[in-house]
Amino acid sequence: MKGVVFNLLEQAVTDAYGDDVWIDLLEEAGVHGAYTSLGSYPDSEIVALVGAAARQLDLEAADVLRWFGRAAMPMLAERYQPFFAGHVSARSFILSVNDIIHPEVRKLYSGAGCPQFNFSNDGEGRLVIGYRSPRQMCHLAHGFVEGAADRFGEQVEIEHMACMLEGNPVCRLAVRWLH
Ligand code: HEM
Repeated sequence: MKGVVFNLLEQAVTDAYGDDVWIDLLEEAGVHGAYTSLGSYPDSEIVALVGAAARQLDLEAADVLRWFGRAAMPMLAERYQPFFAGHVSARSFILSVNDIIHPEVRKLYSGAGCPQFNFSNDGEGRLVIGYRSPRQMCHLAHGFVEGAADRFGEQVEIEHMACMLEGNPVCRLAVRWLH
């Protein structure tokens, strides 16, 4: 996982809970904590940090990932403005992740291993996001979608219809726009 993701997690944790909590998480996870944005670090370190946060905050790891994704979106909007420019809704922004955002991310951060998405609409007008990644971080994607909706002043309801964590080959998140 690229260091930039660890940097975002550090910022999210310190903004919400303070520097001491981040230091505690590093200790509990048994990781060194010196992450440079362009560096690559073992996925096991992000998993250990998320696990430590879950224990500290008495949450499930899935909830921590979702919270992190939502909290990270304003930081991403600040750092990567061009990816948001030209979009007037979260829907078109999210639809650009596979073809524009993550391919650009791979150019910026060599060795980035971004997930694969596919998109369809169901009969109820929901956007169905198919997610596939060996990292199985669908809950992070869930949080990113919520954060994107916040960003565009929208409200969404997301149903996790299928999940790799339950043995499915892909995850499917159905997103309904409430307004
Ligand atoms: C400004 C927008 C975005 C930027 C700059 C960005 C950047 C990144 C970066 C740098 C990584 C780490 C890749 C690696 O270390 O190998 C990543 C991973 C990821 N991104 Fe994005 N991303 C953006 C938007 C999104 C959106 C909208 C979604 C979901 C709809 C998304 C879903 C994910 C997920 C779930 C991962 C975790 C890795 C995995 O699942 O394999 N990203 N992204």
